[in-house]
Amino acid sequence: MKRITRKEDLTSLLLQYKQEGKRIGLVPTMGALHQGHLSLVQQSLKYTDVTVASIFVNPTQFNNKTDLLKYPKPIAEDIAKLEQAGCHILFHPEVDEMYPEVDEPWEYEVGELDLLLEGEFRPGHYKGVTQIVYKLFKTAIPDVAFFGQKDYQQFLVIKKMVNDLHLPIQLKSCDIIREADGLAMSSRNIHLNPEERLAALSLSKALLFIKDNYNLLSIDELKQQANKFFTGSNLLNLEYLRICNPDNLYDLQEKGPAIALIACFVGTTRLIDNMMLA
Ligand code: PAJ
Repeated sequence: MKRITRKEDLTSLLLQYKQEGKRIGLVPTMGALHQGHLSLVQQSLKYTDVTVASIFVNPTQFNNKTDLLKYPKPIAEDIAKLEQAGCHILFHPEVDEMYPEVDEPWEYEVGELDLLLEGEFRPGHYKGVTQIVYKLFKTAIPDVAFFGQKDYQQFLVIKKMVNDLHLPIQLKSCDIIREADGLAMSSRNIHLNPEERLAALSLSKALLFIKDNYNLLSIDELKQQANKFFTGSNLLNLEYLRICNPDNLYDLQEKGPAIALIACFVGTTRLIDNMMLA
């Protein structure tokens, strides 16, 4: 696997591949890689000719400084995992490579999705996400970019940006990879102590409850009963539990295509998860 830290080195290498008619796949990540990330790499290897994974803990998308500072950075392990997965190129720039002192201002307006759910609880988060993803798209010139359904709202935001800015990039949303007991894999799971790890199962259990009972209970009943998964433990602090229209994330009024989404603090660790219902 080639390891590249400078934008221009990556772009010039990829332009050569493009000239040879090869299709580029990009898997943007913030590292601390787990099977969820590696499943995206596998998808990229399957659908494109050259797979680029990026590892960059993007400061502009963190609205909480402690979260940024304690974000895990096991770069040696990450490199070994990518090598083993068969990834072709790792792009891992330093912060000043992606954010030079003289930088273009980022004016893109995310719109309504910036005010809902993650947008509401993490103000400015999607401004930072769109800013870095745009920079990565410009640098890695992918034909296809791979994202996880784990961050469902992020996928919608990026899809909107690609449409709004007419970027010639195909986006693929990939399934959520879970631990055997249902917990969605996340780089933040390593912060959970054993007690919190157990309590964290409430997220996937509540989602599964909603999915299993979607045709049996009303939307209000579903939400009421699913909320009970979060009341028994003082380790859990639920931020939101919503049942939404998957296209725009508006709260669903009546049954139809739907997705349930949860954000919850488990101790001091904030986790998100979601499940398609119909
Ligand atoms: P990060 O949280 O590292 O996630 C990188 C990609 O992996 C995202 O597309 C995310 O949805 C996907 N992913 C995470 N956990 C997953 C799981 N359990 N199953 C499947 N896919 C999973 O998302 C980001 O980084 C950043 O916001 C980024 C897009 C890189 C911009 O900085």
